[in-house]
Amino acid sequence: MNENKTLLNAFKQTAYQAGGHGKRNAGILKQALSEVDAQAESDMYGSGKSIEDFQEKMAKYLGKESAVFFPSGTMAQQIALRIWCDKKGIKKVAYHPLSHLEIHEEDGLKELHGIQPILLADKDRLISLEDVVSLNEDIACLLLELPQREIGGQLPDYKTLEAISAYCRDKGIKLQLDGARLFEILPYYKKTAAEICELFDSVYVSFYKGIGGVAGAILAGGKEFTEESKIWKRRHGGDLISLYPYFISSDYYFEKRIHKMEQYYQEAKEFAALFNGCEFTSTKPLEPVSNMFHVHIAQPKKKLEPIFIETYEETGIGLTSYLKELNENECYFELSVGDAYADLPKDELGKAFQLLDTRLKELKEEIPLT
Ligand SMILES: Cc1ncc(COP(=O)(O)O)c(C=O)c1O
Repeated sequence: MNENKTLLNAFKQTAYQAGGHGKRNAGILKQALSEVDAQAESDMYGSGKSIEDFQEKMAKYLGKESAVFFPSGTMAQQIALRIWCDKKGIKKVAYHPLSHLEIHEEDGLKELHGIQPILLADKDRLISLEDVVSLNEDIACLLLELPQREIGGQLPDYKTLEAISAYCRDKGIKLQLDGARLFEILPYYKKTAAEICELFDSVYVSFYKGIGGVAGAILAGGKEFTEESKIWKRRHGGDLISLYPYFISSDYYFEKRIHKMEQYYQEAKEFAALFNGCEFTSTKPLEPVSNMFHVHIAQPKKKLEPIFIETYEETGIGLTSYLKELNENECYFELSVGDAYADLPKDELGKAFQLLDTRLKELKEEIPLT
């Protein structure tokens, strides 16, 4: 294939890209800082009015006593689990086999903290109450990721969540929320962030996913827990002398987008239905429960790539920059709905799906009869 004809290149050349909030460029920070008083004092090593105000605001929003701003969720969550393990004197935690800690953090929890993870549930489904109850190891903490990103952003029903929380409280197991996409699931549960966080001892939320900031995370919980987390943040080198580019942009985009989560959720359902109308294609979950979902297409990558490229060139709409091979006959990709979806010209979007479906149907005809 010609170098300029890769899916990524074709995607980059489209006029409209369907997922997220648009390009992650320096304009994101510039816009967030444009209204800031240039004379405003910087935070210093985690202290100062500006960072403390934001932490207080987020603690209140999450219904927790206290909150600390971290440069990354990776740092915040490893620290949370370390604190709970030290408190209990057990260096074991449980989480999903496809948790961010397990597959995206280069074993940080094991290498830096000597903590052993117990993997709960099968890779392709959510953790159930049964999984937790039948655990036959002592653990300090259970981490639940809501939604479970690597299986398309699935969610347990709220009753299951309440039951797991009650069980953990009863057994003295701390419960940590990986709420990287907590804001994005509030419309589905029809709960406030504080109501959901009430079920957990400690909570992490992200500001660069549905919120669309530059980077950054909040870790929230009781005062004793967050004070300890500050010590660990210093040990990890997480106390950048100034974190204001991150928390100012976090706050700016939080205010700009927190009220749009219902819109993203509804649009994700609409978008997923368009994919589900195409041959060989289905989304996971079939009906999204947040702004994100995975698109699975039961065809080989080498057959799909030219179809997507043609669709982009004909309509100017980029649906995905990549296709990940699940096996030689199936690919998938992830989509998160943000501001970009509302800006798509809907007639062109309709055309893109018509074309995609027609080309996929043609593949069906190629399959020899057995
Ligand atoms: C579910 C989940 N947890 C944790 C993280 C870590 O966040 P960060 O990139 O801020 O370290 C991510 C990031 O993608 C995530 O998706």
